[in-house]
Amino acid sequence: MKPIQVGLLGIGVVGSGTFNVLKRNQEEIKRRAGRGIEITQVADLNVARARELVGPGVSVVDDARAVIANPDIDIVIELIGGYGVAKTLVLEAIAAGKHVVTANKALLAVHGTEIFAAASAKGVMVAFEAAVAGGIPIIKALREGLTANSIQWIAGIINGTTNFILSEMRDKGLDFAVVLKQAQALGYAEADPTFDIEGVDAAHKATIMSAIAFGIPVQFDKAYVEGITKLGAADIKYAEQLGYRIKLLGITKRTPKGIELRVHPCLIPAKRLIANVEGAMNAVMVQGDAVGTTLYYGKGAGSEPTASAVIADLVDITRLHTADPKQRVPHLAFQPNAMSDLPVMAMGEVITSYYLRLRVADETGVLAKVTGILADAGISIDAVLQREADEIGTEASAGLPQVPQTDVIILTHDCLEADMNAAIGKMQALPTVLEPITRIRKEELA
Ligand code: HSE
Repeated sequence: MKPIQVGLLGIGVVGSGTFNVLKRNQEEIKRRAGRGIEITQVADLNVARARELVGPGVSVVDDARAVIANPDIDIVIELIGGYGVAKTLVLEAIAAGKHVVTANKALLAVHGTEIFAAASAKGVMVAFEAAVAGGIPIIKALREGLTANSIQWIAGIINGTTNFILSEMRDKGLDFAVVLKQAQALGYAEADPTFDIEGVDAAHKATIMSAIAFGIPVQFDKAYVEGITKLGAADIKYAEQLGYRIKLLGITKRTPKGIELRVHPCLIPAKRLIANVEGAMNAVMVQGDAVGTTLYYGKGAGSEPTASAVIADLVDITRLHTADPKQRVPHLAFQPNAMSDLPVMAMGEVITSYYLRLRVADETGVLAKVTGILADAGISIDAVLQREADEIGTEASAGLPQVPQTDVIILTHDCLEADMNAAIGKMQALPTVLEPITRIRKEELA
C-alpha cells in the first residue's frame, strides 16, 4: 500500500523533530502503522530554511492553503501555534476532509468545542497528544488506558519552564526575577515568558485534561489561573522546613458540587514522587477509582519528545482513517452525545488547605489575634512556624515604624476558599500585620 501522505504547517523545533524521527524510524513505524507515513509537503514562511531542513523530494511552499488544497495529502499537522491563523487553517483543513494533528493547546483549550464539532460533522479526526505534556502519552492514558475508571482527580507539573525556575529557586535560594533572567539566558524561558510564568500554558493543558477526564466541554475561560511570579525564596525555604515543596500544579478534580479546574503554586509533601520532579521535566498524577494513583513522567517539551507524540497521532490516524468514524475513540473520550454538564466551580467554592506567611510586628498578642480570626472563620490550624525576630524592617515595610518583626507561617487544614479569603482580609487589616499576606494553597495528593 502506498504511504499515507502528510502535510506539515510550520517547520520549527517540533516540525523538524517530527520530520527527522519519522525518517529515522520509518521502517519500524511502517511495521506498526501497517503502511508508510511520509511528510510530502511543508508550508513555512521561511521557505529556504524549510528546504534545507527537509532536503530534496519534499515540496516546500510558503502558503499553508496550498497544503490543505493538495488532494494527495490525507493528514495535516498544524504546528503554527496560537489562536489566530492556526484556528482558521485547522477549520479549513477539516472542511477539506483532512485529518488534523496539532500540538496547539491554546487553540484547543479555547476553541476545542467548535473544532471537535466541525471534525465530527466531517468525519475526520483531530489528534492532539502533543498538546499536553509533550512526549508523555497522557492523552492516550486518560482517554484509553484509564477508560474503565471514574477519574477522581488529576494533578500535574505541566509546564517545564516554571518547574525549571522553581527548581533553581529552591536549589540556589534565589528569588523569582533573578532565576527568570538566568532561564532566559539559557534558553529555558522564552523572551516573552508571560504564558508560562503566569500559568496560562499550564491552564490550557489542564483544561484539555479536565475535559477528557470528566467528559465536560473544554472551558478555559472557567479555569482559575495563578502563576509563580509572586513566589519568594523565603516561602520555598519555609515550605521545605515544614516538609513540603512548592510546584506549579494544574489540578482538576471531581467534587459533589462540580469540577475544580485550577492552576496555581502549590505546597505538596516532599515525600511524594511528583515533588521530586526537577528542572524542565513534566509529570502528571491521575487518581482513578479502580486503578488508584498513577504517575506519568517525562519531557514536556523539546523537538523529538514532542515529535514522539505527534507521530503517535499520525500512526493512530493511519490505522483508523478507514474505520467507521463512530468506531473511533471520541475526541474527548466520551461520546459527543454523552457529555456531562457538570459545572466548573468558581475558585471561592474550592475546598483546600493553605500555607500562610504573615510579616508581623513581634509584639504580645499578635499570634493570638491572627489565630482568633482563623478560629472565628472555622478554619483549623495544622501547624505554626515562627521565625526568630532577626530583622527590623524590610523594603516592603519601609516608611512604617521600625519595630521588631518576624514571619509567622501557618498551615491550615481544609477549608472553603471563600472563608479563607474573608479571613485573610481581616488579618490583613490588623495594624500589626505589616506586609501583604502570602497565601499558597496546599495539596496532600494522598
Ligand atoms: N512552554 C511549555 C513549557 C512547553 O515550558 O512546558 C510547551 O507547552
